[in-house]
Amino acid sequence: MALGPAVRRLVGARWARRLGRCYRAIFVDLRKEAAALAAVIPSGAHVLDVGGGDGEPLNHLLAVRGDLRVTTLDPGEVVGQWIEPRYASRVTRLPGTSLAGYLVSGRSDPDAILIADVLHHIPESERAAFLHTVRVLLDRAPGLRVIVKDVEPGSWRALLGYWSDVYVTGDKRVSPISRERLVRLLRETLGPVCHEHTKLFETDRPNYAIVFFR
Ligand SMILES: C[S@@+](CC[C@H](N)C(=O)[O-])C[C@H]1O[C@@H](n2cnc3c(N)ncnc32)[C@H](O)[C@@H]1O
Repeated sequence: MALGPAVRRLVGARWARRLGRCYRAIFVDLRKEAAALAAVIPSGAHVLDVGGGDGEPLNHLLAVRGDLRVTTLDPGEVVGQWIEPRYASRVTRLPGTSLAGYLVSGRSDPDAILIADVLHHIPESERAAFLHTVRVLLDRAPGLRVIVKDVEPGSWRALLGYWSDVYVTGDKRVSPISRERLVRLLRETLGPVCHEHTKLFETDRPNYAIVFFR
């Protein structure tokens, strides 16, 4: 078992969350991330959070944007377990669900799709197939905002995050993706798209968030 899950099992859910918050703060300031994301999500939007994980970052986004509704999905067995109860009525959790599964589920199309710290966990050879599904959604909902948050490689903080993914999370297939490569990849896979950089790279380097739209 990787170090992260082993520690979580050892200390129990409550302490795991506290430790998780402190540990995550080494790599990202969730308030700054939420501020950057909030600036590019349309008013009253339904946000589809793909690869939502524990949902801790959503607490910050839901706090600053009282108008948002979120569906958070993850292929893992649990998703959104750390979302605070006060936001529960605004969040739908879909564990064991892929984006492709969501698209054929008959649920409503979102206004924005959030892919936060997920792409670097998808091996390079599988990214085009994942993004093809995003394209299917974009063709169906041309007003869609596709927001990608990730980490620019090439700094000590980014390297620490990489080691954390490999040795603490236990994901040996992690492959960092720069802003430049991300823009190129999304242009290749989504067709002609515009993009805008959020302020995240200025406020909390090496984290970045870019929004893509038609
Ligand atoms: C580092 S976590 C990020 C969680 C959350 N988005 C955040 O910002 O804290 C990466 C998540 O991506 C999910 N994931 C990995 N491959 C995926 C895929 N192909 N589609 C959707 N989610 C995926 C994992 O299960 C994991 O929960």
